[in-house]
Amino acid sequence: MPDLHLRGITKQFTGHRALHDLSLTVHDGEIFTLLGPSGCGKSTTLWSIAGLHRPDSGSIAFGDRVVYDHGRVNVEPEHRNCGVVFQSYAIWPHMSVYDNVGYPLKLRKVDKARRDRRIHEVLELVELGRHAKRYPHELSGGQQQRVALARALAHPPDMLLLDEPFSNLDAKLRDRSRQWLKTLQEHVGVTTVFVTHDQDEALSVSDRIAVLDRGRVRQIGTPTDIYENPADLFVADFVGTANILPATVTRADGHHARIRIDGMEGEITVPHTDKRVGPVRITIRPENIEIHRARTEATPAANTITAKVDNHAYLGDHLRYSIRISNTPVAVTTTRRIEASSLTVSLPAEDIRVFHEETSTEDPSTEALSTEDPSTNEENHHASVR
Ligand SMILES: Nc1ncnc2c1ncn2[C@@H]1O[C@H](COP(=O)(O)OP(=O)(O)O)[C@@H](O)[C@H]1O
Ligand SMILES: [Mg+2]
Repeated sequence: MPDLHLRGITKQFTGHRALHDLSLTVHDGEIFTLLGPSGCGKSTTLWSIAGLHRPDSGSIAFGDRVVYDHGRVNVEPEHRNCGVVFQSYAIWPHMSVYDNVGYPLKLRKVDKARRDRRIHEVLELVELGRHAKRYPHELSGGQQQRVALARALAHPPDMLLLDEPFSNLDAKLRDRSRQWLKTLQEHVGVTTVFVTHDQDEALSVSDRIAVLDRGRVRQIGTPTDIYENPADLFVADFVGTANILPATVTRADGHHARIRIDGMEGEITVPHTDKRVGPVRITIRPENIEIHRARTEATPAANTITAKVDNHAYLGDHLRYSIRISNTPVAVTTTRRIEASSLTVSLPAEDIRVFHEETSTEDPSTEALSTEDPSTNEENHHASVR
């Protein structure tokens, strides 16, 4: 199966730019997720790959095969050989499971015996072998989505494109469907672009994720990269929960920085590749904040604070406490139940990430992903967060 290359894709809808110079590469056989808030351009990107939208600039290639090059090449959707599944089930209500799945093969005039074999093969793959004769209304939502997936796989696609396929399912079924999709995809090995606005879903199914914001790529990386080394405050805040606190960098050598966090005593040294000093914002994940039983000799002096608990919530497998540091609400999570009206906490230096003010989010020239080769850009982008 080929890699997928998107280069400099821009798409404008009447007076509104949905995609700004979007470039990315999806590797052979991976599940690549487009993650971002509603309206950020995920579906527009997916539709452009499928050939259902024509971008206003840029090119799209499946390996060496250019399927779109603005003004020069536009391969029709039916010749791009993408299997597509949308959020709404979009299987035909008046056709049995068997006929739904067989439809793309019938269109391609595959003979009856081969069609029959393939239908049973893909229905086994999605674990619906026993339901071939049923009609959509006789199936659960999750089963209907699996029929849609079986249909997308029936004529083996070069690319599987999934647009929020599980968002209509209830939480438990959604979780099962994700695990199930991951196993299926590993088994079939088809290059998959998966769209979701749900960060848990993105973290759990993806080999790599592109975080999108208002039509631009903010970061591309593995789930661990994105979560542990977010490229900017948008990514830190959108993926998982981040406490964001004002701080000041007093010294920086390109490897480490000395920082002082507003409302906390002393300075600490944190890993940081920028040499600029001055006001910054830092992030720390709620689960990385350390809770001390009481302020003792063993408690680190710098970056430690005792703060009143504003409220706490019991969430089954963990608890979440809300405290304040210099009037900023800070979430702290722990698996240990603590009966106290105040907490002594410290912020471990290795878990703190430092962000300088962005110069502008609107000027495309300041975006990390511009018109250059996306592969080198991905690396630069990645290096810049270390
Ligand atoms: N056919 C269309 N006509 C006009 N505007 C559109 C159309 N499709 C999408 N948009 C706009 O483009 C932006 C991106 O939309 P979309 O790609 O659907 O976002 P997402 O899938 O991330 O929620 C949104 O602001 C949306 O309103
Ligand atoms: Mg969408």
